[in-house]
Amino acid sequence: MHWTGAAAVISALLQASCASRDVFSDPGINVDKWHSATRKANALITQLNITEKAGLLTGNLLNLTCGGIINAIPRVDFPGLCLQDGPAGIRTADLASVFTAGISIGATWDPELIYERGRALGEEFRGKGAHVILGPATGPLGRIPLGGRNWEGFSVDPYLAGIATSATVRGIQDSGVQACTKHYVGNEQETQRTLGLAKGVSVDAISSNIDDRTLHELYIWPFADAVRAGTLSIMCSYNRLNSTYACEDDHTLNGILKEELGFKGYVMSDWFATHSGAKAANAGLDMNMPGPVDQYNFTNSYFGPNLVRAVQSGNVSAERLDDMVRRVLTPYFYLGQDKDYPTIDPSGLFVTLAALSYSPSAFSIPDDTPLPPARDVRADHAALIRNHGAAGTVLLKNTKHTLPLKAPRTIAVFGNDAADLSRGSAVPLGAAYAPPQGVPMGVQVMGGGAGSGRLSYVVSPLEALRARAASSNHSMSIQYVTDNSVVANADFSGIYPFPDVCLVFLKTYAAETIDRTSFEADWNSTAVVNSVASYCPSRKTVVVTHSAGINTMPWADNPNVTAILAAHYPGQEAGNSIVDILFGDVNPSGHLPYTIARNETDYNTEVFNVTDPAQVTDAAAWQSDFTEGLLIDYRHFDANAITPLYEFGFGLSYTIFELTGKVNVRPVHGQRTISVFPPKVKENSPGGNPNLWKTLFAVTVKVRNTGDVAGSAVPQLYLSQPRSTVPAGTPMKVLRGFDKVYLKAGEERNVSFPLMRRDMSFWDVGASDWRLPRGEYIVRVGFSSRDIRMEGTIRV
Ligand code: BGC
Repeated sequence: MHWTGAAAVISALLQASCASRDVFSDPGINVDKWHSATRKANALITQLNITEKAGLLTGNLLNLTCGGIINAIPRVDFPGLCLQDGPAGIRTADLASVFTAGISIGATWDPELIYERGRALGEEFRGKGAHVILGPATGPLGRIPLGGRNWEGFSVDPYLAGIATSATVRGIQDSGVQACTKHYVGNEQETQRTLGLAKGVSVDAISSNIDDRTLHELYIWPFADAVRAGTLSIMCSYNRLNSTYACEDDHTLNGILKEELGFKGYVMSDWFATHSGAKAANAGLDMNMPGPVDQYNFTNSYFGPNLVRAVQSGNVSAERLDDMVRRVLTPYFYLGQDKDYPTIDPSGLFVTLAALSYSPSAFSIPDDTPLPPARDVRADHAALIRNHGAAGTVLLKNTKHTLPLKAPRTIAVFGNDAADLSRGSAVPLGAAYAPPQGVPMGVQVMGGGAGSGRLSYVVSPLEALRARAASSNHSMSIQYVTDNSVVANADFSGIYPFPDVCLVFLKTYAAETIDRTSFEADWNSTAVVNSVASYCPSRKTVVVTHSAGINTMPWADNPNVTAILAAHYPGQEAGNSIVDILFGDVNPSGHLPYTIARNETDYNTEVFNVTDPAQVTDAAAWQSDFTEGLLIDYRHFDANAITPLYEFGFGLSYTIFELTGKVNVRPVHGQRTISVFPPKVKENSPGGNPNLWKTLFAVTVKVRNTGDVAGSAVPQLYLSQPRSTVPAGTPMKVLRGFDKVYLKAGEERNVSFPLMRRDMSFWDVGASDWRLPRGEYIVRVGFSSRDIRMEGTIRV
């Protein structure tokens, strides 16, 4: 690993002691630096006229040099702002990396790696001259297993998602780039995510109808971590919330985000998610992206001149206008983006034009245009990405000592996901518009839409396996059939000699604008697996899935399927990442950031759809009631005693871990009695009442590697609040601590989980505050949500 600067500090802190984990609960904003940046912003504001102020708050879609642009104001030396997608790499760039997707890095359960990824991402955005990265994404949280964008975020569990969001924001901003945490909030499905036309009638976006407690404890939770970490920007989402558009919702923008959570940066709209001027501005929206009203009305904007008029007529106060501008400018000065910031890489424009036009000349790039060479920002990130991809791979099954592969002489590889991409770099850009299964041939290393990046290369599983065979010191032959219909038809006629092991590569596509339609992996995957499993002469079939997240696996119990790896979306080094795991160069240590059910009907939440012809033109028909409240994913499986196939938190290793001794609970609050509500403070700091972020108890266990190879364990702490003093709907247990611990064979270490006040409280709707219920808490520690090895209690 390469650690420099803050990364090294965080790494050292994390390894030092139990309280080290508090680094993710420490405020990410330096108050003195913030004040000094505010002074610079104020000084600039005094020089601006009202039109220039509105210009700082309104995107310019006609400038295609970046995904979003705030115009320069040369008169005052302001160079403008360049905003680029997205969470896993620069969407439109050449010679930039495609990193592991959010779901992959979430599956590592490793805050250090997550920070490292954020930092490397930030370096690339900075290198290309982008001031703002439109990420991380932590909404959708993943309420709906088939949600089209779940893979962009980290986990369906808010605690894991919160820490991952925090580590990412810190990493990005330590590299000098502003994070824009998105999509706030309740954007849990893509279907009707925004308003649209049905038979010529304008129909409103889906309304996510969420009660206050659920909003706080699930959907806003990771955003609170983002604010605590210092995210400089937040993107409001397309959907409506309890019938109000998220980008004009005073309650969640002004009320929760800015007042309760003390967010000092700016709220930017998702693209065309603004539906009003003065109303949105007064509700807390600060920046309107990409500028115009919608795709059909490029000349008008809800902001721009319209905002000027709103201020002149008194519908928006001059103070609020200045507040909006201050919120936008302070982050720019805070990160020192006014000094020696790289210029925008001019090649980005041409990559975008080429992608939009499908041919160089169609979008008026004459054939003889001298194209500016791209700035190569990839540095040594390939090695990180390879490592992250492996670390985010979850070993779900491993029988008959199948993995790691010892010294196979013949490997047979099956499935369209093993191959090179037949459409190369074009895939991710076009992917948003690809059919539900994506492109027919080639490894799925990420999903489509804004969250995709442009591959400057990709290592397929076949390529990596061949390279492995070439460098092996014994002869190893790699045979393959990548055409799924041939495999499904059980045509194995070309395979000889018979394989020592069969590898099946499956893929599942997901993209912005569409929700998934199938739980099983795509391209006739079940027939493909069953066919190989009954053919494979060695009776050892390994299934690898490259997937957006949740898949059902009807073949999982087939005794001939002897190993299963969920490799998620690992990014450009996909083949190398999986080969490192298959051959044991890397010991698998990923754990599921969601639950894999036995049957798709075991899940309790699905995409809301209006299909009744009588209703499709009803402007208000799209009402999705989040009636399950807090009981999503494992909380629902627990509440209803449903046995999953592979539970939340599950992941095998090539070694064995045990907890030894007993659970040790130590109060660290230093008080006789702990108050039920967090002591009030004059003003909330970023993340809300700072007392919520104070550690009350430290729970310690010992973890030992009792196997014979080194590996990383992920001990997890699940907390149950006192049953008698919590309201109905409280989950049986929730994740409230985890760690990633590297242990040599035979090694033992102490692991400590700090429990903060927020971790132990519930959102009391009546009091509008976090209440610490009195009574006995049960602390459960183990290696997954169903593999609990020890219990302890805490009395409050
Ligand atoms: C997506 C955002 C993205 C924006 C800019 C929208 O369609 O929802 O996530 O950042 O486009 O590309």
